[in-house]
Amino acid sequence: MAYGLLKGKKGIIFGALNDASIAWKVAERAHEEGAEIVLTNTPVACRMGTIDELAAKTGSTIIPADATSVEDLEMLFSEAQKVLGGQIDFVLHSCAMSANMRKKRTYDDLDYSLFEKTLDISAISFHKMIQVAKKMDAIAEYGSILALTYVASHRTFFGYNDMADAKSLLESIARSFGYIYGREKNVRINTVSQSPTFTTAGGGIKGFDGLYDFSDRMSPLGNASADECADYCVVMFSDLTKKVTMQTLFHDGGFSNMGMSLRGMTQYNKSFIDENRDENGKIIYG
Ligand SMILES: NC(=O)c1ccc[n+]([C@@H]2O[C@H](COP(=O)([O-])OP(=O)(O)OC[C@H]3O[C@@H](n4cnc5c(N)ncnc54)[C@H](O)[C@@H]3O)[C@@H](O)[C@H]2O)c1
Repeated sequence: MAYGLLKGKKGIIFGALNDASIAWKVAERAHEEGAEIVLTNTPVACRMGTIDELAAKTGSTIIPADATSVEDLEMLFSEAQKVLGGQIDFVLHSCAMSANMRKKRTYDDLDYSLFEKTLDISAISFHKMIQVAKKMDAIAEYGSILALTYVASHRTFFGYNDMADAKSLLESIARSFGYIYGREKNVRINTVSQSPTFTTAGGGIKGFDGLYDFSDRMSPLGNASADECADYCVVMFSDLTKKVTMQTLFHDGGFSNMGMSLRGMTQYNKSFIDENRDENGKIIYG
């Protein structure tokens, strides 16, 4: 059901790769709510993914840009304002990648050049896009900037690797820049901390199926889907949340405030197995 929450608003959505992407669902919902949008992703992702379908469906223009390149971002914000006919009201940062995870490097054996890439793509790109937008005065008063994050920024999750550090930095950037941009232009900056979701990036996390099931059992409302995340993002882009800024907003069915649930305990009791140990009886931590 559409409420016209984004009627007349103009937005840029980063990170729609295919129809499983959270950004894809956000673009669809934003369009339903009356927004005009520009879609962006890396040139490679625009060629390899199915973003053209989304553009056709939502009547939007695609402007390829690498979110780690300041030059690309300057071109993007300039072109997007021309296409949309004015300042931007909302931006979604939905970009993440860890080559250490892809190459199965564990957290105690990271490749540092790949670690820098993880931080650049998944966190510093958020700073770059906000700084570029602010210098160009590309965001309208009371505009809303969002990035997607995960609770592993606050608490340690097996297998989340260097992405946990990237998410901590991402959330910190939302606070630091939220202060400056709020003070000067009333622009809001927040992160939405989403439940595990089956997407291309989600599938790269070690033991993702188990994490998804654990999280679902632990959450009183169950895991939040990508469509539900899109609903929440739309509200955050709308004028209904004008005084919300600098927050990590949990959209996770209650997971982040749980310790143990009945469904979790029941499952745990079924599989009361010993920790993984090597031949010397030493615990293997993975
Ligand atoms: N899937 C989950 O379980 C989950 C949970 C919480 C948060 N998130 C976050 O949601 C966001 C979207 O991920 P998703 O799960 O929809 O997966 P996805 O793989 O569909 O999206 C990730 C996107 O990042 C883009 N990207 C990578 N490098 C880029 C660069 N240099 N410049 C611009 N874009 C780049 C990819 O092309 C891709 O479109 C990510 O920040 C992710 O960490 C995902």
